[in-house]
Amino acid sequence: MRFLITAGGTREYIDPVRFISNASSGKMGYALARAALKAGHEVTLITAPAALKPPAGAQVVPVQTAAEMFQAVKEHFPKCDCLIMAAAVSDYTPARPARTKIKKQSGKLTLELKPTPDILKWAGRQCRVCNAHHEPKIIVGFALEDQDLRANAERKMREKHLDMVVANTPGAIGTDTSTLHIKTANADWMEISAAHKTASARRIIRMIERLTQ
Ligand code: CTP
Repeated sequence: MRFLITAGGTREYIDPVRFISNASSGKMGYALARAALKAGHEVTLITAPAALKPPAGAQVVPVQTAAEMFQAVKEHFPKCDCLIMAAAVSDYTPARPARTKIKKQSGKLTLELKPTPDILKWAGRQCRVCNAHHEPKIIVGFALEDQDLRANAERKMREKHLDMVVANTPGAIGTDTSTLHIKTANADWMEISAAHKTASARRIIRMIERLTQ
């Protein structure tokens, strides 16, 4: 299979040296890329900045912002059989980033933010067209939830037309082990408890392979 995997937390620039981002380490996305390669698949990894070694054998596409990630996904999506959006994409970006470094001033500074495109939602919509043309693609999304985890993740699955959703809690950010809750369209929730991200990644890739059989 040809996997398109995104990883890391995007950076949304306020000025040339400052940005808004999140604590995502990229570990889950990189582990998924390595697991897919190990299972003999082709992998394109679109990665926001991460302090991790790129997996040998993957085509690596470095990006910084949500807009750049969206561009890269649009470019590589037609050639993939499965998209896994493991990246922590910023939902908002500064509405008017400054071209030069913002100088300190007395008093408050207010930043205006505008929404970024939802890449996964775009892919889910594209896929309905792909399916109509008998070019099925599997779309996998993540859901980071600190309350009503399964209910919120199922809502994302529906709204974004996903084949699989992998839900976790903010405690999973940056760690090597995490607990994942996984749902596919025709099956009940399953839980992978306190497992190393390498092991969870292997199981997720195997589950995706099974969806194609
Ligand atoms: N995602 C995306 N584009 C965005 C935001 C999120 O493709 N602009 C993807 C993420 O990569 C993830 C999924 O959507 O696979 C869910 O991300 P999450 O942050 O959990 O949810 P949101 O849809 O952003 O909703 P909220 O932050 O309100 O929970």
